[in-house]
Amino acid sequence: MIAALWAVFGYLLGSVPFGLVIARALGLGDLRKIGSGNIGATNVLRTGNKPAALATLLLDSGKGAIAVLLARHFGGETAALLAGGAAFLGHCFPVWLGFKGGKGVATFLGTLIALYWPLGLGACAIWAVTAGISRISSLSALMAAALSPVFAWAAGRTDVALVCAFMAVLIFLRHRTNIARLLDGTEPRIGRKG
Ligand code: G3P
Repeated sequence: MIAALWAVFGYLLGSVPFGLVIARALGLGDLRKIGSGNIGATNVLRTGNKPAALATLLLDSGKGAIAVLLARHFGGETAALLAGGAAFLGHCFPVWLGFKGGKGVATFLGTLIALYWPLGLGACAIWAVTAGISRISSLSALMAAALSPVFAWAAGRTDVALVCAFMAVLIFLRHRTNIARLLDGTEPRIGRKG
């Protein structure tokens, strides 16, 4: 019961669309009408404002991490797993935006860092290496999402692997248009508008 309440807390926290809030507060416009239309850091970067993109990345990942850490401290490991998964779900389907949210990558990374930091850092490294080679944010996210559940399972963290696999499936589903653009070679490089 208590664990379920932590899931509700995680969902509500994850639902806060920091990218949208930051872009609006800085007068950068409505992210849903810019670039890919996504509310995440990659799209904030398309406005040309790097500090705003960095702040979005930190806050969107931080909300996942905070949900996990608070739930673990007060409710234990099951609460932490549920709160992290729910924070990710909140970012993708935020109650405040009529359930039309983001692609969940930053929240995925923040949640993983707090759930099991070696895996979280590994996922960030996969993202960074792929981005360094390809300069494509979505491809980097898909690589990190695809490999993380395998690494969690190989490390003996079946509990984390399950939550991770759930998030990875949703990340792939949320990147359907990106995958189509990757396949036909039209996915923009990081920082480019199109
Ligand atoms: O983190 C989201 C990223 O993987 C793709 O974002 O704006 O290029 O669709 P975007």
